[in-house]
Amino acid sequence: MATPHNSAKKGDFAKTVLMPGDPLRAKYIAENFLDNARLVNNVRGIQGYTGTYKGTPVSVMASGMGMPSIGIYAYELFNFYDVENIIRVGSTGAINEGVKIRDIVIGLGASTTSRFQHQFDLNGYFSATCTYEILKKTMEAAAELGLESKTHVGGILSSDAFYGETDELNKKWADMNVLSIEMEAAALYMYAAQAKKNAIAICTVSDHLLTGESTSSEEREKTFDEMLILALETAKKL
Ligand code: HPA
Repeated sequence: MATPHNSAKKGDFAKTVLMPGDPLRAKYIAENFLDNARLVNNVRGIQGYTGTYKGTPVSVMASGMGMPSIGIYAYELFNFYDVENIIRVGSTGAINEGVKIRDIVIGLGASTTSRFQHQFDLNGYFSATCTYEILKKTMEAAAELGLESKTHVGGILSSDAFYGETDELNKKWADMNVLSIEMEAAALYMYAAQAKKNAIAICTVSDHLLTGESTSSEEREKTFDEMLILALETAKKL
């Protein structure tokens, strides 16, 4: 079996998949953190690999940017490939004073500027949240790795328009105690809920939208590795 977007066969993916936005990040994770990683998908360059982390089978596949893109890949992984857990590993822009650059933000709930949830035709607004089981394991791993003090769990915003974000709009979300902005979590959480599976978004703060601070590419790499180890240690517990 294959889908229009994924040439992998059933069974090619592990039950837990890490999803960075960038295909080159997927390759980097596979080459540097997984043992015996093999390429299982490369349709449109959306590289997917399966290997093991400390003996636990783990896959990694890129999501692309934005909710429509992660929506396609996550839907197929959950519904056609029997994947149980998806951990998004990405970057986020902070809009809250208590969150510092290089910190880790975990999306407890993902608000959104997108109409993505209209496909479900609900007569109200669906609350897109991570799942408790995976959050609990992530926080256990964060404590073991000594990352608790720099890890924030709270509301995030999945934005539909990177260049549509203004200080004025960001402030309104910050007033609702939203910690930071990214572009994928809400769609991931919605499809996880629909499939009765697990999902979480773990993000490093790459830039601070209140202070204008941003990280260098070297810093991004180091903080990305920290977040990645948190995600992999979580995968080991699932
Ligand atoms: N907006 C959306 N996504 C992001 C940002 C941002 O400011 N920073 C990192 N990912």
